[in-house]
Amino acid sequence: MADAVRCFAPAKINLALHVTGHRADGYHDLDTLVAFTAAGDDVEAQLAGETSLQVDGPYAEAAGSGPDNLVLKAEAALREAAGGRLPPAAIRLHKRLPVGGGIGGGSADAAATLLALHRLWDLPPSFDLDAVALQLGADVPMCLRSSPLRAQGRGERIALLAGLPPFPVLLVNPGIVAPTPAVFRALRKRDNPPIGWNGDAFPPVETLFALRNDLQEPAVSLFPGIGEALALLGETKGCLFSRMSGSGSTCFAIYREPAEAQAAARAIAAAQPGWWCEATHFIAAREGSAALQL
Ligand code: C5P
Repeated sequence: MADAVRCFAPAKINLALHVTGHRADGYHDLDTLVAFTAAGDDVEAQLAGETSLQVDGPYAEAAGSGPDNLVLKAEAALREAAGGRLPPAAIRLHKRLPVGGGIGGGSADAAATLLALHRLWDLPPSFDLDAVALQLGADVPMCLRSSPLRAQGRGERIALLAGLPPFPVLLVNPGIVAPTPAVFRALRKRDNPPIGWNGDAFPPVETLFALRNDLQEPAVSLFPGIGEALALLGETKGCLFSRMSGSGSTCFAIYREPAEAQAAARAIAAAQPGWWCEATHFIAAREGSAALQL
């Protein structure tokens, strides 16, 4: 049993998100292409006398360290699913990603917590983390992978996809918390066509460009600041395409050259000094952690 484990929690970007149906359980059927970035949060867990959560970093206050934080929910859910007498864990979350921003911040933290505790508690490799993850949120099983993927159903039918280049990407959050249920409720059409791509590799950027985020229109109608972020991103030099991620409010743009993403970040930070602006790149797999590979 390790005494302490660190796990990186990369930001999740929905390169495309098609809403293909409304389900009897109230959720929506999705068809989404997802990639993860070198920008993210960090979760550390160590054996301790009692279970606790300490949160630091730029978004610590927004995330909070109370029982609503998905890190503590993940700890409790895994403890219950594992069923055994497991030692308490002191967990530290370094919160760099904006909260409620459509880039999986809370889901990524929950997934990283599951992976860290799986190792800390020495649970068997065959332990079904996916079932615990899905109970915590539709995005959490994807965040367990943190590799480029396509997800369908509620988000639990996952296929890993090779071949996404480490594109430079700029993430911009206009300081808006877009509540996911409200954005889904504002959808005008819930039976949109699926992603018409059935290759086992990630589609090329030209194909990505032609896809959609069906939640973008309702999110922009509820929160016009998201439209401003998309307009600013679309005007930046070298932008291949820009789109909103998840249910917003974070938007992204993809570039060919890291210098283009960095220059775009400087331009947007100068125009909107209060916004979160992070130039990063896509990753092929979770980096910078001692986590288990799924
Ligand atoms: O699963 P999670 O708690 O992240 O979902 C938050 C909300 O997003 C749900 O309550 C639901 O309103 C909406 N949602 C959905 N269909 C999905 C995923 C999320 O309707 N596949």
